[in-house]
Amino acid sequence: ATDTRQTLLILGASGDLTARLLLPGLGRLVDTGGAENLTLLGAGTDDWDDERWRTRVRESFAALGASGDRAEAVAAASRYLRADVTHGADLRRLLDACQGEIVVFFALPPSVTAKACAAMKDVGLPPRTRLVCEKPFGVDADSAHALNELLNQLVPEGQIHRIDHFLGKSTVLNILGLRFANRIVEPLLSNVHVASVDIVFDEDLGLESRAGYYDGAGALMDMVQSHLLQILALLTMDAPPSLAAHEFRDRKAQVLRATRVWDDDPVDWSRRARYTSGQIGDRLLPAYADEPGVDPARQTETLAEMVVAVDTWRWAGVPFRLRSGKAVGSKRKEAVITFKEPPRTPDGLTGPEQPDRLRIGFTPDRIDLDININGPGDPFVLDPVTLGSEFGPGELPPYGEVLRGVLDDDPTLSVRGDTAETCWHIVEPVLAAWRTGAVPLQDYPAGSTGPKDSLLS
Ligand code: BG6
Repeated sequence: ATDTRQTLLILGASGDLTARLLLPGLGRLVDTGGAENLTLLGAGTDDWDDERWRTRVRESFAALGASGDRAEAVAAASRYLRADVTHGADLRRLLDACQGEIVVFFALPPSVTAKACAAMKDVGLPPRTRLVCEKPFGVDADSAHALNELLNQLVPEGQIHRIDHFLGKSTVLNILGLRFANRIVEPLLSNVHVASVDIVFDEDLGLESRAGYYDGAGALMDMVQSHLLQILALLTMDAPPSLAAHEFRDRKAQVLRATRVWDDDPVDWSRRARYTSGQIGDRLLPAYADEPGVDPARQTETLAEMVVAVDTWRWAGVPFRLRSGKAVGSKRKEAVITFKEPPRTPDGLTGPEQPDRLRIGFTPDRIDLDININGPGDPFVLDPVTLGSEFGPGELPPYGEVLRGVLDDDPTLSVRGDTAETCWHIVEPVLAAWRTGAVPLQDYPAGSTGPKDSLLS
């Protein structure tokens, strides 16, 4: 924690991201004793006054139960300034209204973020200013590189925070404890023992009125390029000597640089699909293509799969199957490590032997180990059992956790600039293959388990 006065300046304060994720996370952080000495300043193009903004702040804080004295004090003292953040004079006015160290959060689309950064170059930033960028960071490797160059002209890399809120999810962070604080897990995680790894994040939510953003992105960009590759990095990186930002981020960067499409063949090793109408529970979802704001001709995928290799001595030969889809009935959110068969099972032990599996569940947060034992009944007949544990959510929601790092000036959980570019390089061959039409866009009914021709079935 810091004793210095800080101002969190949110650009895009009247937008959806601020209301749905950023402010609720901040509220919990404040409520649990973090973000001391914080002043909150909102800026946006909407013609709001302070009271309207404070109502927004209070409502969003209350969404995750933050309504104590500390949260109320931050809300009551916060202010809103109407501004066009791509204009130097407006930016100057905003920076002058800040007290102490400034943390600028770009809750804006990538193109507006880039324009705001360009305008900031002329205005100049006070020392120690931190810049916080949301996902997606750029829209491809070139734009991410250009944005990095812009940001690096404004402040040093250590003061740039690229948010990936999955790095603030407690189960994702639990991968570190599971791997590096146990003797019995880590030695098994290599191509000697692991047959394959699946990282799946299927949601039962559909588009949720986000066409403006999502239709230009799609599942590969929205989920795989960012969140799933971060999970892959935590599962495959070597043990860092400490969780200091440079150690942790170096280890992640190393494995991501070694990650590429399986066989370098994006046509055989990727799939894309889009949901048609269907029933999920008691909801009838319209087809994605019929959602307001969607241009069906863009052929935006709502489900993406790709298989990658992590070409290191430890992981070469192990397929990592990544998949994320919207409007999927099964709602599977987990990483599954499937182990190779034992070298030999003694004659006389019979029964259905299933591969050992370590399953890390993201929502609900749990860890399960599927193994074979001599179960009940005949002692020489094998039975599958699962050793499992479910644990409660983290103290902070993911946005609260990543914001804590930002406000404490600790970039450990922020994505480093080189890594943001690497993640684009990993998915770009797939995006290029899709553009040529070489991988057909499949259909799947909303509420089903996904497309028929899946790489995971
Ligand atoms: C966001 C994506 O980054 O992550 C969404 O843009 C997705 O499309 C969301 O639904 C999933 O994260 P969470 O924390 O809601 O499970």
